[in-house]
Amino acid sequence: MPTVVIKGGRVIDATGERAADVVIDDEGRIAAVGADLSADRTLDAGGGIVAPGLVDLHSHLRQPGQEEAETIETGARAAALGGYTCILAMPNTVPAIDHAGIVREVLELGRAAPCDVRTSGAITVGRAGEQLAPLAEMAALGVRFFTDDGAGVADARLMRRALEYASGIKLEGGGSVVLAQHCEDPVLSAGGHMHEGEWSSRLGIPGQPAEAEELMVLRDIALARLTGARVHFQHLSTERSVEMVRAAKANGLPVSCEATTHHLTLTHAECASYDPVFKVNPPLRTDADVAAVRAGVADGTIDCIATDHAPHTQEAKEAAFDQAPPGMLGLETALALGLTELDLPIAELLALLSWRPAAILGVDDEHGGPIEPGRPANLVVIDTEATWTVDPAALASRSRNTPYAGRSLRGRVRHTLLAGEPVVIDGEAQR
Ligand code: DOR
Repeated sequence: MPTVVIKGGRVIDATGERAADVVIDDEGRIAAVGADLSADRTLDAGGGIVAPGLVDLHSHLRQPGQEEAETIETGARAAALGGYTCILAMPNTVPAIDHAGIVREVLELGRAAPCDVRTSGAITVGRAGEQLAPLAEMAALGVRFFTDDGAGVADARLMRRALEYASGIKLEGGGSVVLAQHCEDPVLSAGGHMHEGEWSSRLGIPGQPAEAEELMVLRDIALARLTGARVHFQHLSTERSVEMVRAAKANGLPVSCEATTHHLTLTHAECASYDPVFKVNPPLRTDADVAAVRAGVADGTIDCIATDHAPHTQEAKEAAFDQAPPGMLGLETALALGLTELDLPIAELLALLSWRPAAILGVDDEHGGPIEPGRPANLVVIDTEATWTVDPAALASRSRNTPYAGRSLRGRVRHTLLAGEPVVIDGEAQR
């Protein structure tokens, strides 16, 4: 592999900020960081920021089983274009990622991808919420994160057992696995296609109340207390959910959580168009919820921003609102939305998108770490001032269901490097 120098950028990582060139050796590791460096090949970072690659804890890659919507390859390409060097596949594939055989298949497919593809495993067999999946067998293959995402584990006793069992799993090199919850009480949310409130009443679309999410957040905080095991809350979307996690953290309980880009930037008023591109689960909420999720991001209650990238075919999303599947694309727009919409210092935004999720997933030895000699060169170069307009047809995802079509955004990925290989150069995917 030729050596590479990333020249003329402002380097930002968890340790701070400095103007420096970054040289990558022929094995894909950072060799030097400093002034006036050279190498076989030069990537221009003038006027841009050089940062650790982004890490997404919540990507639906649809393989196996729904390759018409996305594949591991197309999802990983979309991720690389969005500045990600590591993404975590969700297990609600067909069949579900709930045992070693499918974990192996997904990891194998991921090996050729232009992004480091990790996979989560289901907590219960078939994500059916009835029987514990073989967590230790999957952990032995490197699975660090378990969730029934798409559904919550409704049975409190089973969730308690899962937490107790998971905390006994010993990982090579230390650390522990994370149990993550899609918080939704399925009985209370049943039949709801958007947030229950002013807009669902006006539109005549059955809603699901905020309490459907909040009941499971409340219950799992109680289970974290009972078992001492760590719970990660996925895609939190309501004011009271954020308040409960804030209080749980203040009480020293082992909880962490993520918010999605769409819950930070869109409200249920979008559903007035009856366009299912705005249908998502948990649903888009009120202005007060969006403000509370933003406040949670600002004060550190929310540990990281995840995409919940959920590709669906055009055909599926052309159905009526109550028939269409929930979910929206996110990997190619998350960083620019953060830069455009969230009033955060760039280092704080990068913490939310890179080093904090990397630490939660336990991949911080490879992703999100400081940019210093010896580290794997998983990097992104960002033009923070470049503007562009979201064109669904131009996305690399196999699907088109972005809720941001036509939106003008600030901030573009110039280059992405995966283990030293430039997989995106000047905004173009290289493979
Ligand atoms: O909107 C969503 N889409 N929420 C989920 O929990 C699942 C996801 C999907 O798989 O499409």
